[in-house]
Amino acid sequence: MHNAFIATTFDWDHRSSTAWQRFTNKVLRKLRIPVKLSPPQPYQANVEVRMNLFHLLDQTIAFNVPGDVVELGCNDGDCTIVMRKMLDEMAPQKELHAFDSFEGLPEPGENDRKDGVYGKGNMAVPAERLVEKFKQLGLKLPHLHKGWFEHTVPKELPERISFALIDGDLYSSTMDVLPHVYERMSPGAIGMIAVYVDEEVFPRPGLPGHYKSPGVKRAVDEFFADKPEKVSLLYSCENSNGYFRKL
Ligand SMILES: C[S@@+](CC[C@H](N)C(=O)[O-])C[C@H]1O[C@@H](n2cnc3c(N)ncnc32)[C@H](O)[C@@H]1O
Repeated sequence: MHNAFIATTFDWDHRSSTAWQRFTNKVLRKLRIPVKLSPPQPYQANVEVRMNLFHLLDQTIAFNVPGDVVELGCNDGDCTIVMRKMLDEMAPQKELHAFDSFEGLPEPGENDRKDGVYGKGNMAVPAERLVEKFKQLGLKLPHLHKGWFEHTVPKELPERISFALIDGDLYSSTMDVLPHVYERMSPGAIGMIAVYVDEEVFPRPGLPGHYKSPGVKRAVDEFFADKPEKVSLLYSCENSNGYFRKL
């Protein structure tokens, strides 16, 4: 299927400067000021994240991996929209499940507090915002699971999973979902992990703290320490993704 929609939906492409930015850039160039304006990054994920998502989910569909598709931490649904569009066109038999507190992050526990990156309620959006976006695009809603992962995930995950996007930002949130998701993943299923930042593989001096979500890598590395799968890093500009394929 075509994937241009990952740039054009809601003007998600933040690479193409607007007319007034191009004009300002011309002036800055003339003045020999080495600065360039570009549109801000979209709220939660950028084009590269969505491209990674597109190609990883596409693989599980192409190889007929059994199971449904889940997103742990859907926020207002931008990546959910990408998955919905893909499933509608390529695998309408698969169910799409989206989990979120819709109250933002939980109170950071001891392991996350030391990072000093996030606080309770960060990123809070009401579920209505996701619902509204789906309506605007004429898309069928995913199954929405509202509540803290530790309560919803163990009980409400589908029996079998072919693809999971894990996007909880905290050590605790990642640990609350990873064991349950992993257990239900079919062989060949893919787990994509948002904000998996490994500065040894991809050093980004100057990267703002909130993109780092360092608890995510700690949780993922700890979980996979005794597992046969390997987590690899995928470039995604300001962001960074990890992924693994269930053996
Ligand atoms: C970075 S956002 C998700 C962005 C979304 N996947 C996207 O690409 O547009 C992280 C989301 O995880 C949710 N979240 C984090 N920890 C949670 C927990 N323990 N229980 C429920 N929701 C949680 C937050 O409410 C937030 O909306």
